[in-house]
Amino acid sequence: MHKATAGAGSNIAFVKYWGVRHGGADPMVPLNPSISMTLEEVRTTTTVAFEPGAAGDLFTLNGSPATADELRRVGRVLDAVRRRAGMRRFARVVSSNNFPTAAGIASSASGFAALALAAARAAGLPYEPPDLVEPALLGSGSACRSLYGGYVLWQPPAAGRRESTVREVAPREHWPLADLVVIVSRKEKRVKSSEGHLLARTSPFLRARLAQVEGRIARVERAIFERDLRALGEVMEADALSMHAVMMTSTPALLYWQPATVAVIEKVQALRAADALACYFTIDAGPNVHVITAPETARAAEQEIRRIEGVEQILSCSTGEAPRLLQEHLF
Ligand code: PMV
Repeated sequence: MHKATAGAGSNIAFVKYWGVRHGGADPMVPLNPSISMTLEEVRTTTTVAFEPGAAGDLFTLNGSPATADELRRVGRVLDAVRRRAGMRRFARVVSSNNFPTAAGIASSASGFAALALAAARAAGLPYEPPDLVEPALLGSGSACRSLYGGYVLWQPPAAGRRESTVREVAPREHWPLADLVVIVSRKEKRVKSSEGHLLARTSPFLRARLAQVEGRIARVERAIFERDLRALGEVMEADALSMHAVMMTSTPALLYWQPATVAVIEKVQALRAADALACYFTIDAGPNVHVITAPETARAAEQEIRRIEGVEQILSCSTGEAPRLLQEHLF
């Protein structure tokens, strides 16, 4: 067995990860814990084959050869897998996202979760989620949360330890929610999150944000247990704004928002104020807005938001399952 295929969903964080203690050649160590919901509809499928005689790793993403940076990150994950398996063979990796490539939504989470699972399986290694945390963290931080379905908590290593802890807080069935991914720009962002994480420490607001994060994690966990959308939404919005405050006050300053980003925020607030629709926003390292609401109110919210000037597309997503191995390979 030297070939395997896996599919994984992206995720949206309710309490965000922003800032690394260290990363790069070592698995990413975040400055703060984060908690997310895995998404079902925005997915990556990846096939890995360790091939005898290959002269180097090859990586094709959505039908095109990967960039040098993408290949370097994929290579780090493959090296970790090869090290564990005591194997020297290079790999051919083919990966495909089921959402528009240039849609401006993060594919690194689903991408590196699928890669970690497929590579471990292809190398004959154990492939339960805890076995995959370290390899996934060599690709991207948020990828470790996409190793589980439902609601997922990522805790940085305890003092003196190297390993992060990732666990499912509640399964998908406990509380299915909707996430409307509101695309207001498809442009590639100027500063990638991997670079942004290194700038977080330059913000004088980072300390204030970190002081609040533990409390927010506890409140979000409670809101999930109690299926309390209002409690979840209030914390989620406050956390997204505090992360963007850190971004905006970094050196250089990172301003990811577009006019339509603010228009969507205002619409979400207005819908709530009219007591018509319980929906709440969060925003990652980009201009697009995620609107979290109950499945029953998703359609109505989508219709309202679609009318806003500058909204290009809305991807309707729901709480997702854990990654899975697939029988059909991409090559
Ligand atoms: O895992 P990365 O390097 O793509 O960083 C993700 C950062 C945010 O999306 C902004 C926050 C998060 O926790 O997902």
